[in-house]
Amino acid sequence: MISGSVVTYLRSLMGDVLPQYVLRDLVYTTGDLAALPTTVVRLLDLLKDQTCAADKVAVVLDQDAAMTANVLKLSNSAFYGARGTVATTRQALVLLGNRAVLTLAFAAGMVPVMRRHLVGYGIERDRFWTHSLNAAMAAGAVMERLDGPERACEAFSAGLVHDIGMLALDSHLAANGMQLVPAFPLFNVSERERQSLGFDHTEAGGLLAANWGFPPALAVAITHHHRPWDVPSDPGLVTAVMVGDIVAQMAADGLSPEAWPEALEFLAPRGLVGDDLRALAESIVNAPEEALARATRAPGTSWQPLTPASIS
Ligand SMILES: [Fe+2]
Ligand SMILES: [Fe+2]
Repeated sequence: MISGSVVTYLRSLMGDVLPQYVLRDLVYTTGDLAALPTTVVRLLDLLKDQTCAADKVAVVLDQDAAMTANVLKLSNSAFYGARGTVATTRQALVLLGNRAVLTLAFAAGMVPVMRRHLVGYGIERDRFWTHSLNAAMAAGAVMERLDGPERACEAFSAGLVHDIGMLALDSHLAANGMQLVPAFPLFNVSERERQSLGFDHTEAGGLLAANWGFPPALAVAITHHHRPWDVPSDPGLVTAVMVGDIVAQMAADGLSPEAWPEALEFLAPRGLVGDDLRALAESIVNAPEEALARATRAPGTSWQPLTPASIS
């Protein structure tokens, strides 16, 4: 029989390791989160392919009528001049651009996965989705400013899924009758997660992203979206996602950017200050259609507004 002191000693040795086993176990066995819709998995393969050929996007969309209907609905909302005239996937690809259609298809495919009530966090169904979509719009806009328009769609996709770790942790919290209710639903939520669970949603999200086969750059952005200064190379995408997350919280909860002093210090040499974040938050609140258009338009296309509500 193992004495109590030996068990205590072993636990002290395992202190840093044990939570990681628990985390891996819960991410890999999280009920209906264990698998993504088949079409989303195919879209992810295309997202990893820099060439992003139109015929490949069309083949994937043609195999999913519901997805195609959503993309066409978005395509028609997107063009004032062409409203109601985009009837086929091919037309959408020509008018919007391959990568923009792929990004919208990915967003539409993630709706059933992400639009849910997070019981363990006390976050209503639409609030988590709105936070994710707002972060995506702000991340795309910031990426355009930091790196030009070429990677705005990538930042939009990364912003959209930046908090997916909360989906995995929520199932765990709910199954164990636990609830995290921060003063602001998402502010400093990582701290509360670590206190209660020993790990946070960024770690869970990175594992889930790898498990789901997300492009490596997206997994890195998810893992480090609260601390882009920890990423040794190519912090542009991670920085855009961090700003997206902050701006989404400012827009929803009326927080000031000064609530994130480390982030402001990191952003200053990159030409972004608190007022830039305020302007972005205002644009998302006051003109969401323009914010979405700016974040997802393909360079050189005549992209027009659509509304977050039209992604449903
Ligand atoms: Fe987060
Ligand atoms: Fe977030």
